[in-house]
Amino acid sequence: MKEKEYLWWQKGIIYQVYPRSFMDSDGDGIGDLNGIISKLDYLKDLGIKGVWISPIFPSPMADFGYDVSDYTGIHTMFGTMQDFDLLTKEIHNRNMKLILDLVPNHSSNEHQWFRESRRSKDDPKRDWYIWKDPAPDGGPPNNWLSVFGGSAWEYDEQTGQYYYHAFLKEQPDLNWRNPEVQQAIFDAMRFWLKKGVDGFRVDVMWHMIKDEKLRDNPPNPDYNEKMNSYSRHISAYSTDQDEVHDIVRKMRKVVDEFDDRLLIGEIYLPISKLVRYYGEDNQGAHLPFNFQLLELPWEAKKIEAAINDYEGALPDEGWPNWVLGNHDKSRIATRVGKEQARIAAMLLLTLRGTPTIYYGDELGMEDVNIPENKIMDPQALNEPGVGKSRDPERTPMQWDDTRNAGFTTGEPWLPLMENYQELNVKEQWEKKGSMLHFQRRLINLRNGEPALHIGDHIPVYTENNLLSYMRKYKDRKYLMVLNLSDSQENFKPDFNWRGKVRIATQPEMEGEELGGELQVKGNLGLVIELD
Ligand code: NOJ
Ligand code: MG
Repeated sequence: MKEKEYLWWQKGIIYQVYPRSFMDSDGDGIGDLNGIISKLDYLKDLGIKGVWISPIFPSPMADFGYDVSDYTGIHTMFGTMQDFDLLTKEIHNRNMKLILDLVPNHSSNEHQWFRESRRSKDDPKRDWYIWKDPAPDGGPPNNWLSVFGGSAWEYDEQTGQYYYHAFLKEQPDLNWRNPEVQQAIFDAMRFWLKKGVDGFRVDVMWHMIKDEKLRDNPPNPDYNEKMNSYSRHISAYSTDQDEVHDIVRKMRKVVDEFDDRLLIGEIYLPISKLVRYYGEDNQGAHLPFNFQLLELPWEAKKIEAAINDYEGALPDEGWPNWVLGNHDKSRIATRVGKEQARIAAMLLLTLRGTPTIYYGDELGMEDVNIPENKIMDPQALNEPGVGKSRDPERTPMQWDDTRNAGFTTGEPWLPLMENYQELNVKEQWEKKGSMLHFQRRLINLRNGEPALHIGDHIPVYTENNLLSYMRKYKDRKYLMVLNLSDSQENFKPDFNWRGKVRIATQPEMEGEELGGELQVKGNLGLVIELD
């Protein structure tokens, strides 16, 4: 029998670069493409395969690039098209892959398409966006709310209609029921694919099609005042409509016109709905992002259940993936604490499925406290008090102990974490026991060990706050034992085992031969190679 072949995005690790904050080459305090190029050796040496870069396209930056005003250009702040071509080439020279962010659900209100669309009711581009007459009382056409607060409908004086925006009013939603819109975005995808881009991460994929009748969303019975206003409703009619799967399939077809490319979907949905995005016969997204580790409480039993539910729900041939952090959520080291952040990294890098690492998490970067008068994120500014600011997890990458952690020679667009003198790449790279050193070793082990990057997942039953599982490929077998609490736990599996500790959060245990029953100290995580 022929050996099954695994693809780069199945075997390899993805790393998210938030370009404004990764590396600034020109001293304007904002990261840029030449900055990223200068750090590609770092990513290569770290063991990364796919580099996903959040939006770098022309944009008024109302939502820091998630409001695109030209789908086939480069924002001058980030560089030029030449810089982009060089970036692609340098990534490929290092045998890595480049993944771009595609934001098809909405454009900027300054996009030429929207300028034309808003001109008049019979403009040829009118139907490229979602326009509706006011309700009989003059108010918005239905009760849909914006994720960033307030009604999702904005009244436009000029033509006396409302347009729909799931996010900011500066981010009008495109009408994906219109075939011209589909073609326009598919052509933009082809533009980048022809340039050699290896894939896309598609922004808010589950938002792309809305109920044709625009029915009101039902109230959320679990809503309370501490939540943002969007949580008042269940977005039953404004997101995750059946027809979205036709769009995803079409996007996949575009990607499949080229060899070996990748389609990732950003989707916040429960597992049963999420896995539908793999598409019938896996003709949808290759990787519908699995955000469970971002959302679940840090409890072994809950995480274990989620892993098993996910494994059970995956379609045949559907490839799993796990995400521990991104530019929209508090950093893992802040959510679970420094000690458990190591357990979390061990989990991410030993679970079955493609891992995505958020820049800086490999160092153990934490959320940075941003003074109220310095908040930049519209999500927070729009709904003071309840809208979560995403600035704290978007602060500059910490490269060394010089001014501004070596990120910029100018004034950084967001303040840096005070501890950057110790917590930086240069300091930690070779330092045994540091978070970066620890993660480098985990990545190295994963990349070199088929059991860890393509092996089967085998659950192991444990009690209390322990999480355990095995990974197996042919005769190679690993056992993971992770203590998700800070108190001692007893590991007593119902099978016999013996093996050698390859990586431990307490390095003095590495190399030890273990077997049978174990007393697992608080915050201890073990990656054990079984005999
Ligand atoms: C999801 C992105 O990750 C987030 O940063 C952005 O604000 C919204 N989509 C709107 O594009
Ligand atoms: Mg710059």
